[in-house]
Amino acid sequence: MAENYFEKVEEARQFLEEALPFVPEILIVLGTGLSGLGERIKAEVVIPYREIPHFPISTVESHAGELLVGELSGQRVAAFRGRFHYYEGYSTREITLPLRVMSLLGARILIVSNAAGGLNLEFRPGDLMLIRDHINLIPDNPLRGPNREDWGPRFPDLSQAYSARLRKLFLEAARELEEEIREGVYVAVPGPSLETPAETRFLRLIGADAVGMSTVPEVIVAVHAGMEVLGVSVIANVNDPDNFQPILLEEVIAQAQAAEARLTRLIERFIEKL
Ligand code: HPA
Repeated sequence: MAENYFEKVEEARQFLEEALPFVPEILIVLGTGLSGLGERIKAEVVIPYREIPHFPISTVESHAGELLVGELSGQRVAAFRGRFHYYEGYSTREITLPLRVMSLLGARILIVSNAAGGLNLEFRPGDLMLIRDHINLIPDNPLRGPNREDWGPRFPDLSQAYSARLRKLFLEAARELEEEIREGVYVAVPGPSLETPAETRFLRLIGADAVGMSTVPEVIVAVHAGMEVLGVSVIANVNDPDNFQPILLEEVIAQAQAAEARLTRLIERFIEKL
């Protein structure tokens, strides 16, 4: 199975090596709260995932997925529009295949965003949280199985998964734009059911500030591949175990969209600094 995976990655890599005019060092995953950033990219090439061998195809989202390559804030970037989640039924290896391929082609920096539930009771819906560290509670790891040493080490060090250099640059951008930024630990859960009040209490106890269902598999692969990572969560709702309110998906989406313009500006300013 793993050998088969290696072959799939190689086929996708070969395809993109020929299809892309260049491979940027900066790769952006346009998660919730960042889809607007896709509109700001002056795209030279747009390739639908269905044309790329072995890329997953989303059946649930409005965008089945596409790879954009072009210019943003004076820098060359690649961006994934269309995201995959463990709860959709994919393994975390499948979710991260596109990222693995781009890392092999030369991407060095990963910028990733998500929508998350706030566990830290100082947070408010609409806040932006710079991810300082993570906890993986998804019962899968994209590196499980045989390792390819030329892709990365068997036991990659995650002591600094979220680059201190990139966090500093992002905070500089935030200061310049007078945006207040939270910082904290993101915990990834499998989903798709949301947390119970008891689970929320547990997640706070183990040290998480925000909870969501994505990002961590991508970050593990990026670090394995030697990339620098910047992660930002849009706090869509805040879950207080002692006064638990229903989590309404419409509310989550509305808050994420409200934060989108701010996060887009921040990332554009951040990219200018790279
Ligand atoms: N829990 C898990 N994932 C989420 C939440 C939440 O409260 N809000 C947005 N994504």
